[in-house]
Amino acid sequence: MKIFIDTANIDHIKEIKSWGILDGVTTNPSLIAKEGKDFKTVVAEIAEIVDGPISAEAVSMDAESMVREGLELSQIHPNINIKLPICVDGLKATRILYEEGIDVNMTLIFSPQQALLAAKAGARYVSPFVGRLDDIGHVGMDVVADIMNIFDNYDFDTEVIAASIRHPLHVAQAAAIGVDIATIPYDVLKKMVSHPKTDEGIDKFLADWGKIKKH
Ligand code: G3P
Repeated sequence: MKIFIDTANIDHIKEIKSWGILDGVTTNPSLIAKEGKDFKTVVAEIAEIVDGPISAEAVSMDAESMVREGLELSQIHPNINIKLPICVDGLKATRILYEEGIDVNMTLIFSPQQALLAAKAGARYVSPFVGRLDDIGHVGMDVVADIMNIFDNYDFDTEVIAASIRHPLHVAQAAAIGVDIATIPYDVLKKMVSHPKTDEGIDKFLADWGKIKKH
C-alpha cells in the first residue's frame, strides 16, 4: 500500500519523508487555508520535497474553468495531479484532462457508483472519504471495499485512495482490504508508530542494560 500524507504543512511533510515511508501528498482547500500561504507556492514547495504524486485541488465549478485551472496547476510540476469533485462538470473536465495526459484525483467520493463514473471518465485516482461516511452512520471502509471490487471486476487502472482517514485502525483496515493508497494525516501517522508495549519493552531493555557490568 502506498502511503500519502494528507496535509499542506511543509514541516510535517519533511518529517514524514525522513521516515522513509512517504509516497505522495494530497492537499485540499481546507488544508491549504490552514497554512495561510499562497496556494501555488505551497504546491511548488511540496513538489520540491516529495518525489511522488501530489494532489492540488481545483476550486472552479464549471468544466471549462476546471480544465483551465487543471492545466495551470499541472504546469507547476510534472508530479501534480488535479483534484476535482465528483459532479457532472467534474466528470466532463476529467475526460478532457485525461485526453490531455493530466492525472485527475476525483474527490468527495461517497458511493461506489460515483467511483465507477469517475473511473469511466478517466480519473487516475478516486478518493472515497471514509471518516466522513463514518460520521453519518455508514461504514466508510465498506464503500472502499465495494469500489475495490468494482475496479477489479472490470480491470480499471484507476487507483483507490482511502481518504478522510481519522485513526490508525482505518489504516489497518484499508491495508487489509488491499487499498492502493491511504492518505493519512500527520497525527495519525505519528500514532501508527507507537504502542505502549513497545515503550515498555524499550524501557525494560535499557534498564536491564544499565545493570550489566561494562569493562
Ligand atoms: O483530503 C481529503 C480528506 O482526507 C479530508 O479528510 O478528515 O477532513 O474528512 P477529513
